[in-house]
Amino acid sequence: MKEENTPKKDTAPVVWAIGGGKGGVGKSVISTLLAFWLVRMGKRTVMVDVDLGGANLHTLLGIKNPERTLNDFVTRRYDSLEDICIPTPEKNLRLISGASEILSLSNPHFSQKVKIIKNIFKLDSDYVILDLGAGTSFNVLDFFLFAHKRIMVVTPQPISIQNAYGFIRNAVYRRLSQICSKKPTLQTLVKTAMDPKNDLKVRTIKELFEVIQESGDLETAKTLKNEIARIRPAVITNMVKDPREKNAGRIVQLVAEKYLMLHPVDYGSVAYDQQIYSMVSAMVPLTKLGQSSDALACAYEIAIRLL
Ligand SMILES: Nc1ncnc2c1ncn2[C@@H]1O[C@H](COP(=O)(O)OP(=O)(O)OP(=O)(O)O)[C@@H](O)[C@H]1O
Ligand SMILES: [Mg+2]
Repeated sequence: MKEENTPKKDTAPVVWAIGGGKGGVGKSVISTLLAFWLVRMGKRTVMVDVDLGGANLHTLLGIKNPERTLNDFVTRRYDSLEDICIPTPEKNLRLISGASEILSLSNPHFSQKVKIIKNIFKLDSDYVILDLGAGTSFNVLDFFLFAHKRIMVVTPQPISIQNAYGFIRNAVYRRLSQICSKKPTLQTLVKTAMDPKNDLKVRTIKELFEVIQESGDLETAKTLKNEIARIRPAVITNMVKDPREKNAGRIVQLVAEKYLMLHPVDYGSVAYDQQIYSMVSAMVPLTKLGQSSDALACAYEIAIRLL
C-alpha cells in the first residue's frame, strides 16, 4: 500500500508519540493536525492508532471500517505492519488502525508489544505518529517512552494538568524501573516509591534520589538522572479559548521541573476551533480542514518547532 513512485527508504522512520494521560484532551486531533502538516511538508507519514481497545483515529481520517487493523498483525494474519497500513484520503498519509472492540489487544502481552514496537521502526516512512490512548497503563507508557519525540497534550482544565503531571510522573518511574531491572534492590525501591502513599515517605523523584545517594550508589544515581533528563517531553496546550489559558503547558513544565527533575519543553498551544468540533461530529476527515482554521495554523507553528 505504498504511495506509488516513492523509493523505499533505508533509514528507520522518526517516531513521535502523542499522549497526555487524560481522555478527550485532543490527542487524536493533535496527532492528525501534525500529520497533516508533515505530509504537506513532503514527509511520508504513517499514523498508528495505539489506543488499544478504544481505537477511533480512523474516524478522524474519514475511514468508517478499516479493512485491516493491528489485531491482524498481532494474530499473525499479516507478517509485517507494512501490510496492514491502509491509505487515507491524504496523499502520503497512511494509517495503521487500532483494534477497536477487540479486547484481547487492549492488554497485549509484553512480547506482542515488543513485536509492534520493533516493526514500527521497520515501516517504510519518514515519520510515524503514535496516537496513544488515555491513562497511564504500562502499555501507554511503553509506547510513549520508546518514541524519539514524546509529546504530551494538555488542556487548560486543572484536571487535565493534574493528569498530565501524573502521566509524566509514571513515565519517569517506568523508565527508572526498566533501567534498574538488573539491580533488584534498587528496582524494589523505585517500585515502592512509585506508590504516592509509600511507607518510605518518598514523595518526589528528588527524594528518591536522596535515598539512592544515601545508600552510597552515586554512579547509579548519576546514570538514572541522565536517563530522566533524556525523556524531555514536549507539551502542547490544546483547546485554548482565551490567551490566558495558554500557560497550562508552562505549569506542567514548572511542576515537572520541581518534583520530577525533568525538563519538559513548552511547544505552544492550539486554539479551540469550532470547525474541528463540527467536522468530528459530522465524521468529515480533519485533513479537509480549511486554511482559515485557527487550530491548523497553530499546529503548523508546532510542527515546524518539532521538526
Ligand atoms: N482544538 C480543538 N478545537 C475544537 N475541538 C477540539 C479540539 N481538539 C479536540 N477537540 C474536540 O475534542 C474531542 C476529543 O478529541 P480527541 O478524540 O482528539 O481526544 P483524545 O485525547 O484523543 O481522546 P481519547 O483519550 O478518548 O482518545 C474531539 O472529538 C473534538 O470534538
Ligand atoms: Mg484519541
